Amino acid sequence: MDILVIGSGGREHAITWSAALSKKAGKIFCAPGNPGTAQLAENVDIKADDLEGLLKFALDKKIGLTIVGPEVPLVMGIVDLFTENGLKAFGPGEDGAQMEGSKVFTKNLFKKYNIPTADFGEFDESAAAIKYIKANKKYPLVVKADGLAAGKGVIIAKNELEAVAAVADIMSRKIFGAAGDRVVIEEFLEGEEASILAITDGETILTLPAAQDHKRIFDGDMGPNTGGMGAYAPAPAVTGAVLKVITDTILYPTIKALRSEGIIYKGVLYAGIMLTPSGPKVLEYNVRFGDPETQAVLPLLKTDIIDICMAAIDGTLKNIRLEVKDMAAINVVLASRGYPGEYEKGKQVTGLDAFKGMDDMIIFHAGTAIKDGKTVTSGGRVLNITAIGKDIKSAVEKVYKYVDRVRFDGVYYRKDIGKRAL
Ligand code: AMP
Ligand code: GLY
Repeated sequence: MDILVIGSGGREHAITWSAALSKKAGKIFCAPGNPGTAQLAENVDIKADDLEGLLKFALDKKIGLTIVGPEVPLVMGIVDLFTENGLKAFGPGEDGAQMEGSKVFTKNLFKKYNIPTADFGEFDESAAAIKYIKANKKYPLVVKADGLAAGKGVIIAKNELEAVAAVADIMSRKIFGAAGDRVVIEEFLEGEEASILAITDGETILTLPAAQDHKRIFDGDMGPNTGGMGAYAPAPAVTGAVLKVITDTILYPTIKALRSEGIIYKGVLYAGIMLTPSGPKVLEYNVRFGDPETQAVLPLLKTDIIDICMAAIDGTLKNIRLEVKDMAAINVVLASRGYPGEYEKGKQVTGLDAFKGMDDMIIFHAGTAIKDGKTVTSGGRVLNITAIGKDIKSAVEKVYKYVDRVRFDGVYYRKDIGKRAL
């Protein structure tokens, strides 16, 4: 069957790479894709939020399966639109995508169904938010914009002054735009974070190997938050016993809660988990594959990704036995100097052939473009260098042995991805 992958980042290159391994895959298209996906698929110049354009293309080409990468088209309801038109698209409908689209929706779901999370208050006017802050005694305190803010809408306030300023920035100055019409203010949770990417058809849940992201720009988790500077899987902090607690107290209760609200959630259920001293708690849900977690998780999968996606859509996930390699993978993001702030583009990338013929090293493209026949940088997160090894230690050694073979002017990457796990 022919496949359409929607999106243009490292995550979408990894999804395309995984789909290309499937015997079921016919032609693969990527909209809009990047120079990495172009090596495996045909890129089509349709933006990820052009729902009508994507629908027309998928109908024209009789696409058998569409895999949606980013959250924006999901929140816009692309899966409903495709389904109404007789197409199969992997991901939640607009109703389920609210889990990422609105923190207020999700936190209230957690509260109503007793799903372990940080204590919180939600506010649609700043006076009430400030009153809540004044009554709060414990710091830090976390202030979050309600809506989509490209992973940036979270402020960790160290004291009352900062918390009040955060509310003003989000609700009055609208630093995250309309996402700040409402805020969630919540307790700061201590612990190690893990990303649990699970596949569900609304009844059955299959968890992929647990991953850990590295959100801050600098080594030692210093500096501002980014989209993610690297990831590894499986995360040793998530032992089998911990995963069982997460599955039993967070993941299954969530899809059950959604069912009680009339929502059959299908697709990726990506739980951002804090492993606190009093047990795992969910910080947030994303309704799609994580980036950069996917670039470390999918290379570990033995089961055909197309079978998994189709079973999730068809509600037959209970028939799938998920098989993963007994190995570890790590992914280091090569970023443009200046990211997540201002950075230059158009720098030529060299060394992209460095790992040809090596099946344990993969380059996933993110912010690259082709200019005058050459690959150049076009974004903040430019490339993902992924290594697979028998364990995290060997994967870490491998990735850092080879990472410098790929170069561009102003390349920056973290030197400590995966070190926490060793
Ligand atoms: P979110 O977009 O909700 O995942 O938040 C982004 C990042 O902020 C998370 O990955 C955490 O590192 C941090 N964060 C969010 N909420 C909390 C919390 N309640 N306690 C501690 N850290 C948090
Ligand atoms: N790695 C964080 C995210 O995908 O949102």
